[in-house]
Amino acid sequence: MKKIHISSKENCVKKIEVQGDKSISHRAIIIGSIADGITRIENFLEAEDTLNTVNIFRQLGVKIVKTGKNYYIYGNGLYSLREPTETLYVGNSGTAIRLILGILAAQPFTSTITGDTQIIKRPMARVIEPLTMMGAKFVSNNGYAPVKVQGNNLNGITYKMPVASAQVKSSILLAALYASSVTEIIEPMKSRDHTERLLKYFGAKIITGKKSIKLFPGSKLKGEKIFIPGDISSAAFFIISGLLMKKSKITIKNVNINPTRTGIIDIVKKMGGKIKIKNKKNINNEPVGDIEVSSSKLKGTVIKGDIIPRLIDEIPVISIAAAFAKGKTVISDAKELRVKETDRIKTMIKNFKRIGIKVVEKEDGMIIWGNDGTPFKYADIDSFSDHRIAMAFSVAALVSDNGLLIKDIECVNTSFPEFFNIINSL
Ligand code: S3P
Repeated sequence: MKKIHISSKENCVKKIEVQGDKSISHRAIIIGSIADGITRIENFLEAEDTLNTVNIFRQLGVKIVKTGKNYYIYGNGLYSLREPTETLYVGNSGTAIRLILGILAAQPFTSTITGDTQIIKRPMARVIEPLTMMGAKFVSNNGYAPVKVQGNNLNGITYKMPVASAQVKSSILLAALYASSVTEIIEPMKSRDHTERLLKYFGAKIITGKKSIKLFPGSKLKGEKIFIPGDISSAAFFIISGLLMKKSKITIKNVNINPTRTGIIDIVKKMGGKIKIKNKKNINNEPVGDIEVSSSKLKGTVIKGDIIPRLIDEIPVISIAAAFAKGKTVISDAKELRVKETDRIKTMIKNFKRIGIKVVEKEDGMIIWGNDGTPFKYADIDSFSDHRIAMAFSVAALVSDNGLLIKDIECVNTSFPEFFNIINSL
């Protein structure tokens, strides 16, 4: 087990870049693999999760090569995938398993997909149910991986999603490309819309409403050039670092600022944080900008309702900001945290107690009493092999008495292998 000790200096003025967006990287590989022609991906996230997606499509017979810094996919269309000879392995990636199940559901062959010890504890019934309604057949371990898929001819469905989940929505949309009729999805709250944007960019016919999406099958997807912008979920760690560290100003360049992902910016503003977006532009149907943050005195806030899907992955690091702020922060409507890589309500709370933060667990969130800028107590932190817990507490270490010792840090490689290089540069 690898451990790291992190502490900080003051006066940090830095311009940095974070690695490519994880959600868009997965989708670029998946959609490029079923498009016709060559897709070129620039700034692809080379992390364990996304590289597992590359491997899976290679196993499904797609030629994917890396030349220089770019990835090239030689797509042969919707019906070009071939039966894999071995079980498909997603490692730690919930996005990979759920989205790829949507593709496998429509193939004229049988396949089995699984992942690591965390993946086999995460619910797959949420995608198996709608995909079964479309006509596919599954054998799972009571709604958990491994999942065996017997692909089939699919029909379109109208599906009212019980939870706001971009993974579930995307899985259905990918299957819907193969269906014999229109599919309509209604979301309880709007979740990240990268699949809709990328499918449109590749030529699919999709109509998006406020909380509904209609996909009309039958259009050809055409290979495209994609630049993957920086991941706001990775930038989040440096947004919060820049706010908490004294005399600092950090600019994170070329970050995806898709409004379905920018809940963290709204919350930082509500907490009194100094944050600006500069150099806004549009790159292959996604908004991009530079995020500038500087040292701020933060106050507690309430985080609940429609904003939750817009910042679900950032809650661990936002909680660190809340623990350093003045006053109480209440997080509600975030029960989904319990089915992430770990039960993030529990794993955050266990570590908060070690660094001397008063916190109360709720079924759908937590209440954090901020310490008003008092450095956190020294402690050993356990990441519980959850990348976002490891990285959130690395940020806490920057504003701790004598830093923190973070145990089990290899997990950051699932989403952000360059994390420790960047944080060390601060
Ligand atoms: C993701 C969707 C979210 C998010 C995950 C990535 C995606 O999960 O937490 O890290 O790329 O679609 P849910 O769909 O389970 O909310």
